[in-house]
Amino acid sequence: MNSTSTDAPLGIIGAGLMGRGIAQIAIQGGIPVVMYDSRPEGGEEARKAIVATLQKLAEKGKIDAADVEKAVSRLTVAGSLAELSPCATVIEAIVENLDVKRELFVALESVVSPECVLATNTSSLSVTAIAAACKRPERIAGFHFFSPVPLMKIVEVVSGPLTDPAIADKLIAMAKRMGHTPVKASDTPGFIVNHAGRGYLTESLRILGESIAPYPEIDRILRQAAGFRMGPFELLDLTGLDVSQPVMESIYDQYYQEPRFRPSPIARQRLAAGLLGRKSQRGFYRYEDGKKQEPAEAAVPPRADRPIWIGQDDATAFPAVGALLDQLGAPRDKGERPGEDSLCLVLPVGRDATTAAVAAKLDPKRTLGLDPLFLDGRRTLMTTPLTDPAARDAAHALLAADGVAVSVIHDSPGFICQRVAATIVNIGCDIAQQGIANPQDIDRAVTLGLGYPKGPLALGDALGAATVLDILDRLHEFYRDPRYRPSPWLKRRALLGASLLAPDC
Ligand code: NAI
Repeated sequence: MNSTSTDAPLGIIGAGLMGRGIAQIAIQGGIPVVMYDSRPEGGEEARKAIVATLQKLAEKGKIDAADVEKAVSRLTVAGSLAELSPCATVIEAIVENLDVKRELFVALESVVSPECVLATNTSSLSVTAIAAACKRPERIAGFHFFSPVPLMKIVEVVSGPLTDPAIADKLIAMAKRMGHTPVKASDTPGFIVNHAGRGYLTESLRILGESIAPYPEIDRILRQAAGFRMGPFELLDLTGLDVSQPVMESIYDQYYQEPRFRPSPIARQRLAAGLLGRKSQRGFYRYEDGKKQEPAEAAVPPRADRPIWIGQDDATAFPAVGALLDQLGAPRDKGERPGEDSLCLVLPVGRDATTAAVAAKLDPKRTLGLDPLFLDGRRTLMTTPLTDPAARDAAHALLAADGVAVSVIHDSPGFICQRVAATIVNIGCDIAQQGIANPQDIDRAVTLGLGYPKGPLALGDALGAATVLDILDRLHEFYRDPRYRPSPWLKRRALLGASLLAPDC
């Protein structure tokens, strides 16, 4: 058989969770597959599982019954590595261990033709380090799929410094035949998706660590006000802290303690306590019969209106808030300065309620912040350390009067949504700045791989690059933590009024 013809088989080594998924989409895409596993029964078990999955899909009417037979006929199980010799491409999906993978690639080189493309599905090892032991490292690339492979329609095509660009192009073409969206990444820790995903979890853990809000409230806010499909703590429970904490620590260390990725001692301690998540029935949440037990939400206090005052600058910057207060029937104090009994509502961007109250010379006992950038789905109110509970409850009752939920949180520069969103945008921008991937691929990878409502760069454009820059600069000023230093990619585009999706010339 000619190993470079389009019908030359694809070799898949490792018939576990990932190998099976990759084999399934390959044979569905018309690619003949030879599958090998070092466990003698591994390949046959995988074949049976793939046939059962395809039959189930046909029973549900998701695929044509005639296609099942055709797809299955393309799948062969190999009894030895040597049977992979006619393959034009081989994808490795064995155990995540550098030495074992290196050994396999060296052995493979003596089996396949010199033109054969060799790919690894590693998610956390360096593709370059795997390739380094080989005679022809230029034909080795990463081909990083996500679980479950047939449903996660994204694959990262990862090139190391020695990878021949033609190899990445061949993998891109193959991904498309499999019905997947390929994105190109350079070989760096976390590639795109696991790198971009650091912001959501680490910033949420930081917010929790600062007692700004309890975790169910942080989840509710990020789901309902910012539109994330899952709250960060629900997500940590789903993945399991035994998986996510080592990833957080490894990426932080691989980037030489980059403060943007700093892991949380809270997560490390909960891992030590065995609070893994769904798999141990208890993580941040408790699970009964696999069902998450949602802690009760604070009741809305009875309505007790008093005049509400907004400063002129805030009213001009966010006319939607004034319109909302009128719609809720709020008695407005429209004086230049607030009257004696009036509630003072500040609308900070990147600031906390205390800083905003002090800057405007307001009484902190009567001052509350409302997040003006995330008003839909759920509203976030923020107190100063001195806010009087009666003032807090009056504002809560008023803002919940139309049935939209309200979360009351402690003081935080940029509330919860602003700072989490700004962190995600900043990390996405820096992935672009480092040239790890192009802006479009970054957004594609994040929407498909992480399920975020928008890619980090499109999210930054929606908020406005200048606004994101303000949030980060103010967070940076408040905490004096380099974690919040803005990426040059963001800073320059904010100064130029350009889209964050605009590539460098
Ligand atoms: P798995 O444990 O389900 O399957 C691994 C298979 O490889 C097993 O059947 C094992 O018998 C076989 N194997 C081990 N050493 C071998 C060798 N030297 N030669 C041939 N076969 C060998 O593992 P899974 O989850 O499928 O992961 C495979 C790879 O994919 C790992 O590199 C992992 O990091 C990566 N990955 C895993 C993801 C996941 O969510 N599980 C997501 C993305 C990548």
